[in-house]
Amino acid sequence: MRRFPIAPGAPEFSAIAYGVWRLADDPEGAAPARVRAKIDACLEAGITTFDHADIYGGYTCEGLFGKALAEAPELRDQMEIVTKCGIKVPNAALPSTRVKHYEATPAWIEYSVDRSLRELQTDRIDLLLIHRPDWLTSAEETAEGLVRVMDSGKVLSVGVSNYSTHQYALLTEFLGAPPATNQVEISLLHMDALFDGTLDQCQTFGVHPMAWSPLAGGRLFGETEAAVRTRAALESVAAEYSATPEQIALAWVAALPSQPQLVIGTNRLERIQSAAASHDILLERQHWFELWAAAQGRSIP
Ligand SMILES: NC(=O)c1ccc[n+]([C@@H]2O[C@H](COP(=O)([O-])OP(=O)(O)OC[C@H]3O[C@@H](n4cnc5c(N)ncnc54)[C@H](OP(=O)(O)O)[C@@H]3O)[C@@H](O)[C@H]2O)c1
Repeated sequence: MRRFPIAPGAPEFSAIAYGVWRLADDPEGAAPARVRAKIDACLEAGITTFDHADIYGGYTCEGLFGKALAEAPELRDQMEIVTKCGIKVPNAALPSTRVKHYEATPAWIEYSVDRSLRELQTDRIDLLLIHRPDWLTSAEETAEGLVRVMDSGKVLSVGVSNYSTHQYALLTEFLGAPPATNQVEISLLHMDALFDGTLDQCQTFGVHPMAWSPLAGGRLFGETEAAVRTRAALESVAAEYSATPEQIALAWVAALPSQPQLVIGTNRLERIQSAAASHDILLERQHWFELWAAAQGRSIP
């Protein structure tokens, strides 16, 4: 598996990351042994980056992962941990939160980092992301919070998620350096980042975007017209590469010149292995465009 610094001077990540959003929904449960099986499947396949957020699983996923880590602390040095903060959801873990809202103030960033470190049972976060832009906190204040947690040594690098290009540029001004990534949704069924400048901005700064839900969160396997059309094209292209449609869908995102890190989310061990193997597929240009057209339901202009 290819590895790269997610941004100049930032930690080195694997080209595919494993996202733990669905960890608590695994039909086989989320006991430490099951979490460990998925960690092992990832590490064996060269997937070393694990993508968390404080809110995943109703504030439980970091803790479930942390329990597995506590049983095998030697694993920590074999992986990179990404987590996010800034979305607050009414939950027993946040008793004073009445309304779902965003907060990216210095106080909340510091509080969240301490909570994530405790839950994950680790002493450092390799990359902390602001999960969504907070309209009520200035970029200057958010940058101050991010600098504080880096200065404390608890966080090695910082980035953002779901930021517009303007929000990313504004935070860059106050951070003094570009955020180490912008984690955004990218798949055949969600192409906004190709059209709104997000991926071009990443190239400008030599930053790899992180692509969340590269299989459209499973919608690629649903029955909407776009999914059915796209799947037919994926099946026909897959046959030419001796690959599966899922692998071709991942290779389609990986082909983008900003070289997104793909954040996959399957709970199945065999799908982790198969996703990792997609990494060797280099899609030929016309296949890429054929898939674009099938997904969009129109030819390129
Ligand atoms: N920053 C953000 O705002 C944000 C938002 C959403 C997600 N994320 C991150 O991105 C990660 C990945 O998101 P995701 O889970 O939506 O990624 P994904 O890989 O696009 O989708 C995974 C889902 O697709 C299903 N799936 C995979 N292959 C399938 C197949 N052949 N047939 C039917 N279903 C199939 C999986 O089910 P099985 O488990 O059964 O395989 C799983 O439910 C998350 O864990 C999280 O870390 C970030």
